Amino acid sequence: MKHPPIHYSDYLGLEKLLSAQNPRSAQYGKLVHDEMLFITVHQAYELWFKQILFELDSVIKVFSEPSVDDREIALAVSHLQRIVEIQKLIIGQIDILETMTPMDFLEFRDFLFPASGFQSHQWRLLETKLGLKLQHRQHFNDEAFFKVLKPEHQQQIQQAMQSPSLFDLVEAWLERTPFLKMAGFDFWQTYKNAVLEYLQVEQSFVEKNSRLSPTEKEKTLQQLQMGRDTFQKFFEKKEYEAMQAQGQFRISAAALHAALFIQIYRSEPALQLPFQLISRLLDIDEKMTEWRYRHALMVQRMLGKKIGTGGSSGYDYLKSATEKHKVFSDLFSLSTFLIPRSRIPELPEEVRKKMHYQYGS
Ligand code: HEM
Repeated sequence: MKHPPIHYSDYLGLEKLLSAQNPRSAQYGKLVHDEMLFITVHQAYELWFKQILFELDSVIKVFSEPSVDDREIALAVSHLQRIVEIQKLIIGQIDILETMTPMDFLEFRDFLFPASGFQSHQWRLLETKLGLKLQHRQHFNDEAFFKVLKPEHQQQIQQAMQSPSLFDLVEAWLERTPFLKMAGFDFWQTYKNAVLEYLQVEQSFVEKNSRLSPTEKEKTLQQLQMGRDTFQKFFEKKEYEAMQAQGQFRISAAALHAALFIQIYRSEPALQLPFQLISRLLDIDEKMTEWRYRHALMVQRMLGKKIGTGGSSGYDYLKSATEKHKVFSDLFSLSTFLIPRSRIPELPEEVRKKMHYQYGS
């Protein structure tokens, strides 16, 4: 036989794995029944975090290449999809932990002080590798978040912080998107005209609408003007940079334009995979947010207003982090700039041809 036989138990390292559930309550005298569940659920999370990081690293590797091969993008999309499926599963694990009541939790909570999920280095790696930057984090004291990690893990985080994240790599890849300016076609200028035309039509529709009261009319026209202002800012480089400086957008204008282009013309063959990629990034960010929110609610249910074992204010800290720790918010904001399908400018035939599959000669 080419490879020696192996037993199921040895292959999976079960001896080690199954001897790693050691409730502290038992060590201190009397086992508290629910501590076993608490440990198992956390360990299951850490195993899934490991798998998510494994998939994420493979995606990061693909996008680290100076020129990304289409076949590799298809693989990256499938790995991102796998991450989304794992996220769905781990969000569901909160339900299992919530079968433990706050009183059951209090029975053993003191034994684990000051241990906290706040010290989960895999969670911090995941956030960092996705693209959460230090300056965008919610802090609850003056200490950098990674200071509570073990020294070897701090090193890993530092390394991840110094390397391009998925956000950085996807941004650079989007910036390289061809087709936006080609054969006399300028997507940005064409789209701008279409948007302004759309707003103009909307405005005359409101002005002619005799069913609106003067106050309602004025209010609607003001809203339209606000919409136009936002659009203008989006189109003008300086205005966009000002919004970036105020923290309203993190992604570069060029990458955002490309993402919008992909969103709008997603049925063109060359854009189908990029569209799927963007959609999976949105899914992952949405699931991260969902997990954070579910975790925060669970914490409120277990602790009320008590502070966390890691020293934070507990629920309040976690609730603010839920909003603040989103990575791909800019891609969500794209919907603000969409106009009805019927008003989308047609692509010139020459550009469309370049985006189509070419068979034979
Ligand atoms: C009874 C259940 C739980 C309670 C009461 C709880 C409580 C808390 C609290 C209060 C914090 C804020 C930091 C602190 O002051 O300690 C926190 C953070 C955290 N917990 Fe939990 N937790 C629970 C279950 C879990 C589970 C099952 C996981 C899965 C790994 C987890 C992962 C995390 C992570 C990753 C953080 C850091 C979040 C951030 O800083 O954005 N927690 N937890």
